[in-house]
Amino acid sequence: MENRSQWGTRAGFILAAVGSAVGLGNIWRFPYVAYENGGGAFFIPYLFALLTAGIPILILEFTIGHKYRGSAPLSFFRLNGKKTEFLGWWGIFVSFVISTYYAVIIAWAMKYTIYSFSLSWGKDPEAFFFGDVLKIADNPGEVGGLVGGVALPLLLVWAICFIILLGGVKKGIELANRIFIPVLFILFLFVVIRAITLDGAMVGLDAFFKPDIDKLLSPRVWVAAYGHIFFSLSIAFAIMITYSSYLPKKSDITNNAFITGFANSSVELLAGIGVFAVLGFMATSQGVDVGDVASAGVGLAFVVFPEIINQMPGMNGIFGAFFFLSLVLAGLTSLISICETYIAGMADKFNISRRRSVFIGVGLSGLISMLYATKGGLYFLDVADYFINQFGIAVIGLVEVILLAWVFRKLGVFEQHANAVSDIRLGWWWKVSLTFITPVVLGTMLFFLIKDNIAENYEGYPTSFLWTMGWPVAIGAFVMSIVFTSLKWKNNTRVATDYEE
Ligand code: PHE
Ligand code: NA
Repeated sequence: MENRSQWGTRAGFILAAVGSAVGLGNIWRFPYVAYENGGGAFFIPYLFALLTAGIPILILEFTIGHKYRGSAPLSFFRLNGKKTEFLGWWGIFVSFVISTYYAVIIAWAMKYTIYSFSLSWGKDPEAFFFGDVLKIADNPGEVGGLVGGVALPLLLVWAICFIILLGGVKKGIELANRIFIPVLFILFLFVVIRAITLDGAMVGLDAFFKPDIDKLLSPRVWVAAYGHIFFSLSIAFAIMITYSSYLPKKSDITNNAFITGFANSSVELLAGIGVFAVLGFMATSQGVDVGDVASAGVGLAFVVFPEIINQMPGMNGIFGAFFFLSLVLAGLTSLISICETYIAGMADKFNISRRRSVFIGVGLSGLISMLYATKGGLYFLDVADYFINQFGIAVIGLVEVILLAWVFRKLGVFEQHANAVSDIRLGWWWKVSLTFITPVVLGTMLFFLIKDNIAENYEGYPTSFLWTMGWPVAIGAFVMSIVFTSLKWKNNTRVATDYEE
């Protein structure tokens, strides 16, 4: 622990942080969330959420990692003993669950990168995806055997992840991001440029940017903006604390947070333009409304996009391959960051080598991820994603800001720490955002979540299924965090000479 790993360069850290932030969420989540929540008008709540929660929390987490120089549990332990340690584990268990299904989506995208060249999905991409690729079960909750065509690429995803993580912080994570992020940027730029030069692109962009001002009056739109910003910036899940714990002592925290935040938003905006340009092309050629073809997530990437690629006037194969390869790269760099949280956490707490921690961590998540490579996998994935994300963000984010701002009153100390190393000085906006605005919005988010889930089952799934997969996953992450916090530290938590009280 004395020779704690470090990033080789400032750019290396920024690329890794941006690599974590820029993920599937930017490409398939943001365009739809923005469209659904007011289109052009959504930029107001979005920017507000970015400036009052996203970047302030990013600064907070960078400061914690930089100051305490440990994995999330160790950093939080140094902050205030076991009373805060559990926050680190909680984020880690949420990350663990996310990593198990996130890898599966990357595996699908790998398959589709190859399929693109020969448009293997044929004339009915929907039937192809659910039938031929996923071999989906009839009922939610049914497992129905492993699907080899998914399990195999999934193994490949884990193998890549394993090799990169085994390489360590500098020679593994930093190096991978240095290669993947620039390549991703070029591929994605190509996709977007091709998209906006399609016939009907403008129709799509009109639909995307058309401001629906009335929506600004709905609290749900503001809550959606906050939820998206948390997910998109990978905050509250132990990730940014872990990554910033590898920063050298002399590192500008605040500036790095702004760069990471704005880079992530730029990719989102670019994705929104690309996705809606393509949807405009499809809507125009079929003579329907953009709203009828707009969708998010799995459906957008693996059904709607293949349908559109089929109709494109040329370069279909390359367009498709670049699009899906972008998903693979964006996903991999995020997956690596998620895994690093538990690899670092286990190594710190149980005093095991990084190597062993990688073996155990990746091995376990790889094994569990096979659940989503079964015939019932898509239902499991959908429910796990909804419960772990929504509740993870609302509850962990809320508890984190309440403990740090109100209970332990640490913001003053952190402000000093950040200001001592940063060019931009934190002013009143930082404290006001974390003390008042963020708790109020997250509290509202939690209220809506509970209300909605009492009113009706998520996606109308059977209650028994939600009680085997949804709630236990959300509650389990918290319970496990308490269990892990109660275990004894096998490492001397004070050994690191390079952290200040
Ligand atoms: N930030 C990533 C994205 O936008 C997703 C992510 C969430 C990654 C949580 C890690 C943890 O897709
Ligand atoms: Na993101």
